Amino acid sequence: MGDSDQLVDAARRAREHAVAPFSGFKVGAALLTADGRVYGGCNVENASYGLTVCAERVALLKALSEGERAFAMIAVVADTTDPTPPCGACRQLLWEYCGDIPVVLANLRETKGSHQMRDLLPLPFDARFL
Ligand code: THU
Repeated sequence: MGDSDQLVDAARRAREHAVAPFSGFKVGAALLTADGRVYGGCNVENASYGLTVCAERVALLKALSEGERAFAMIAVVADTTDPTPPCGACRQLLWEYCGDIPVVLANLRETKGSHQMRDLLPLPFDARFL
């Protein structure tokens, strides 16, 4: 099993913890660090709706808060036929902290594809402008 298959499996496991009572839309993510550690994340919704945090950002913030700074790949899993890509807010943070990593999109049965962050967020605003 390759790195991306293992990461997809980790994202599927993380998805099982999704807190999605309002949308019912459960998402899991798994972020691989450059030195091989994996941080899982799930979406966490709340009654105000707007404060919902996506699975990708939960995984990223968990990793950053543990001191991780170098990342290799992220997998995102939802129970959809078409793959569920990261939202705009997640793309911004993934670009800033992970750079041009592959984003592997999968559902509960199969991997649907992989996209580079530079393609998901063209012409990004980032620290180079500050
Ligand atoms: N969501 C994610 O966690 N990641 C995505 O890539 C897309 C959307 C969550 C947010 C919300 O809890 C639910 O999916 C519906 O938008």
